Amino acid sequence: MTFKKTMLNEDEIPKRWYSILPDLPKPLPPMIHPETREPVKLPPPLFPSECLKQEYSEDRWIGIPKEVRQVYRLWRPTPLYRATGLEKALKTPARIYYKYEGTSPPGSHKPNTAVAQAYYAKKDNITRLTTETGAGQWGSALAFGCMLFGLQSSVYMVKTSYHQKPYRRIMMETWGAEVFPSPTNKTKSGTAILEEDPQSPGSLGIAISEAIEDALADEKAKYSIGSVVNHVLLHQTVIGLETQKQMELADDYPDLLVGCIGGGSSFSGLYWPFYHDKISGKAPKEAEFLAVESSACPKVTKGPYIYDHGDTARIVPLVKMHTLGHMFVPPPIHAGGLRYHGMAPTLCLLNQEGIIQSRAYNQIQTFEAAVLFAKTEGILPAPEPAHAIKAVIDEARKCKETGDAKTILFLLCGHGHFDMQAYDDFINGKLPPYEYPKEKVDESIRKLRELYPWLNEII
Ligand SMILES: Cc1ncc(COP(=O)(O)O)c(C=O)c1O
Repeated sequence: MTFKKTMLNEDEIPKRWYSILPDLPKPLPPMIHPETREPVKLPPPLFPSECLKQEYSEDRWIGIPKEVRQVYRLWRPTPLYRATGLEKALKTPARIYYKYEGTSPPGSHKPNTAVAQAYYAKKDNITRLTTETGAGQWGSALAFGCMLFGLQSSVYMVKTSYHQKPYRRIMMETWGAEVFPSPTNKTKSGTAILEEDPQSPGSLGIAISEAIEDALADEKAKYSIGSVVNHVLLHQTVIGLETQKQMELADDYPDLLVGCIGGGSSFSGLYWPFYHDKISGKAPKEAEFLAVESSACPKVTKGPYIYDHGDTARIVPLVKMHTLGHMFVPPPIHAGGLRYHGMAPTLCLLNQEGIIQSRAYNQIQTFEAAVLFAKTEGILPAPEPAHAIKAVIDEARKCKETGDAKTILFLLCGHGHFDMQAYDDFINGKLPPYEYPKEKVDESIRKLRELYPWLNEII
């Protein structure tokens, strides 16, 4: 078997990030304060000042600080592979490429932003960052970033994952983080949840509330988030910018870009630069974008596009996005990174405009795909990007039927070395194929409308 890998030199690590904000077909709907109903911005005490500036900047290109590029050199540029083994197994005429972000020390794309956020916090003389984590990928990336810039990190880890994934917790602790199983008794929002349900398995929405509350109570601390908001997606564009150069070296260009979506950061990091190619007339082809989510947490495919809170305790203002409702407590699927109730507003807007397509798969379908990928390409994918792999396999099979030699590019955003229990459960037939029912989504949205009866007026 021959594997085709396209590498770049270290000096080809991008020097600027690309922001989609000035290139959106419509402006993003503003955040809204739930009491005044007036447009608001993210609360300034929460984030490092440079992150807040980037959040609303209309600049298309934003320079990457040399200190951040210096750290990126530890694992960037990441490789682009041609999936020759998978193509052969599928007997497809499609050409399949994947950009692999699992080579970073924490094992995923997440440190692309964690390192930048820790650097900006340090510049503001902050001594501690707080955050939430689902599967532990984001928490470990932030622990890694904080360790490099001499900051303390406090991570609220969703309780089910805290118990399911002890090795992720140990990794964070090794890098110096303190890790709490959320909900905790340390915060008012966690205590309120535990009073209602002492056995609460936790959710990302709850953990976000706890991490924000903790940061707001300490003037030397700020809050850090791993997805959804604009500046995080911006930092991830090193992925797509490198991939553009690598595709050029491979003398090819994608017809279709595929990625999994939890909050939308990894896929945005891949597709934003290609979207820029498209709208600026630089793309040699009309590339399509396909976002893949879990059918256990189907916000884009089943949730309405509506104003909702990003966290369970309603500390953050209302954001217009596809949502399952901020009270949503997800089923305990293995793709922990896909269990968030909302989605990046930029991705939702482009989905509404018909520029991004979306699709959902259950965990049996995705693990079947992950195992086929491991057997043909060697790399064991994390459960999250296995969703993208499933979509790629389906598309490549369609190409076999039609004889269409499409170029398909997807993001393999992390390895699954800490997810062996999930693989074991799959191999032993213990995984339930969970689908989140539409009735439950409707019920949760009904509760949201009861809370804010005026929502209909502004939708
Ligand atoms: C490996 C991996 N992929 C994907 C995701 C989903 O997040 P996002 O859509 O922001 O990339 C996560 C989130 O934790 C993750 O850990």
